[in-house]
Amino acid sequence: MTERTLILVKPDGVARGLSGEVLARIERKGYVLEGVELVNATAEQLAAHYAEHEGKPFYQPLVDFMSSGPVLAVIASGDGVIAGFRSLAGTTDPTTAAPGTIRGDLGRDWGEKVQKNIVHGSDSVESAEREIAIWFPGR
Ligand code: CMP
Repeated sequence: MTERTLILVKPDGVARGLSGEVLARIERKGYVLEGVELVNATAEQLAAHYAEHEGKPFYQPLVDFMSSGPVLAVIASGDGVIAGFRSLAGTTDPTTAAPGTIRGDLGRDWGEKVQKNIVHGSDSVESAEREIAIWFPGR
């Protein structure tokens, strides 16, 4: 089914110059870029985006990290893009994410409280539409 997903290149990915690499992998897979914008995330955007993680030990380090520099917000579309991009991204922990994935190829443990894992991708149709509204109001 044709669907949309919300992808973020997180501040570590942007700072390391990996935005183009991530966009290229999305396009090489055959997905379509519907929106791309460099954003300095507001506290309100991050509170909404990470609402499900509030109260967890990594929540505040995560919000601080996501505020530490610009993120690249992306809407991508295509059949199965939600699961497809999460497969491209690899599992959450970059140390053990499979080689061939964005996190497996480009990420590592930097010895910090937060997992700097380069990208975020929505995990369901509901999350995608909720997250698109946060990062691209009106889309
Ligand atoms: P993501 O899956 O995009 O959204 C939640 C983020 O929280 C996740 O990426 C990681 O960046 C971070 N995260 C998840 N679990 C942990 C953890 N156990 N320790 C530190 N950071 C985490």
